[in-house]
Formats: sequence, C-alpha cells, structure tokens
Amino acid sequence: MKVYKISPRLVFLSNDKVYKFFNNSKECEDESDKINSSPFSDYFDSDTKYNMKFVKILHVNKYFYIMQPAKGLCLNDTKNILDYKLAGSWLRIFHNFSYDEQSKKAFLFSDFDISHVYVNHNENEITAIDPGTGFGTIGEIENDISRLIVSLVQTKSFNILILKQRINSFLNGYKVDKINYDKLDKYIDERIKKNTKKMLKLNFSLKRLLIGKFFLIFSNLKYILIKKNIKKIINKIDH
Ligand SMILES: Nc1ncnc2c1ncn2[C@@H]1O[C@H](COP(=O)(O)OP(=O)(O)O)[C@@H](O)[C@H]1O
Ligand SMILES: [Mg+2]
Repeated sequence: MKVYKISPRLVFLSNDKVYKFFNNSKECEDESDKINSSPFSDYFDSDTKYNMKFVKILHVNKYFYIMQPAKGLCLNDTKNILDYKLAGSWLRIFHNFSYDEQSKKAFLFSDFDISHVYVNHNENEITAIDPGTGFGTIGEIENDISRLIVSLVQTKSFNILILKQRINSFLNGYKVDKINYDKLDKYIDERIKKNTKKMLKLNFSLKRLLIGKFFLIFSNLKYILIKKNIKKIINKIDH
C-alpha cells in the first residue's frame, strides 16, 4: 500500500488500484461524474505516436471511488525535458475536441498542473488525472495553459534556465498558433495569486502567512524573469 495524500482527501494505492476518499458523498459523485464526462479516454496521437489517456474510474462508492493507477512518471518527478512537450501535446488534443474557432474557447480541464500528468515511455502513453472542479467549463484555452506554467514556476527550484526549457518544451508541444500572449499573461498573474491564497486557506497561521508572502514574491520574481521568453515564443519573435 502507498499513501499519496491524506489531506484534504485521502488518496492511496492498494492492490494496483487507487482509492480516493471524500468528505461528503456529493463531492465524490460530482468528481466521478466529471471524469466520466471527459471528451476522450483514449486517443492515439499520430504526431507524437503516444496514446493520450484520461484516468479511468473502475468503481464509485458513496464516499470514495476507485481508479486505475496512471503509469509512468509524474511530471513532478521527471527530469526528461521531452515529457513537458508531451504534456503540451496532451492538452492541445484535449482542447481540440471542443475548440470553437469563433469564440476561441474550449472544454477546460481546469486543474492541469504538473502533479496531474503522467508519462509512460515504456508503453508510449500519457495520462492526466484529477481534473478539478472547473472541469468541463467552456473557457479560454490560456486558462488551462496558465495552470501548467504556474505549477512549473511554483516549484522550489530557482533554476531559471531549466524553468525556461520546460516551459518552451510545453509550449512547443501545445503549439503556439492558438495562444494569445496577453490573455495567458493575465491568467498566469491571477493564478500565482490564487494558488498562494489557496495555500493559506488550507492551513492558516502567522508562519504560513509569512511563507505565503515569501512564496508570492518568489513566484512573481521567477515569472518576471521568464515572461519575455514566453512572449517571444508565442509571438514567434526570432531575436
Ligand atoms: N490514478 C492515479 N494514478 C496514480 N497516482 C494517482 C492517481 N490518482 C491520484 N494519484 C496520486 O495522488 C495524488 C493526489 O490525488 P489527486 O486526485 O490529485 O487529489 P486532490 O484532489 O486532493 O488533488 C496525486 O497528485 C497523485 O500523486
Ligand atoms: Mg490533485
């Protein structure tokens, strides 16, 4: 048995199955319904030659559901720069199922961060897990794109070079033709603030408040240092 998380929800692996427990039955039902409403569960991408997968629920109970374990390495733990490109490809394909050219909106994943993407090079598959409460909202693609970028910015590392490489790789996989830089910039700014607030809400104390403030300054500083690079890639500026 392996416990992934105990708070705010208990998530563990046992007998090759992942169990996720909820505080109330509605949360459990809502999340399992959302997962089952995904635009796809398996999709072979001929570009990357990887199978794009979505976490599969095996059984739903009142307060918990059971799912298949996602195989491979989580983006949280990978050192392979190619994995970020594959994550970008996954999100592009997910958006393409519902992308509307006129409104430039799509069915959103909502919690697309590095702890929710698994890459398995042995079987050429990428799996996304934990879609989050906003899953299925029709919104701007830059909203989802910003989540992954902010989760990369908000790691403890201050290696800007690696951060830039990872973001370049992710944007490369997503392809920049549909991305609007100004919108993305706005979502990234908002997301950095929201994530800090979320962190404080989870466990409030003076120590946490100070850590939160530091975290906000640290994240904003990192973002300032990589902003130009993101703009350059999206607007395809060569110099
Ligand atoms: N299907 C799965 N396969 C492998 N690991 C998983 C799976 N579901 C959850 N996990 C692990 O448990 C952690 C917490 O699960 P998650 O669904 O993200 O919970 P929460 O809604 O609390 O964020 C994930 O970050 C991941 O490490
Ligand atoms: Mg999660």
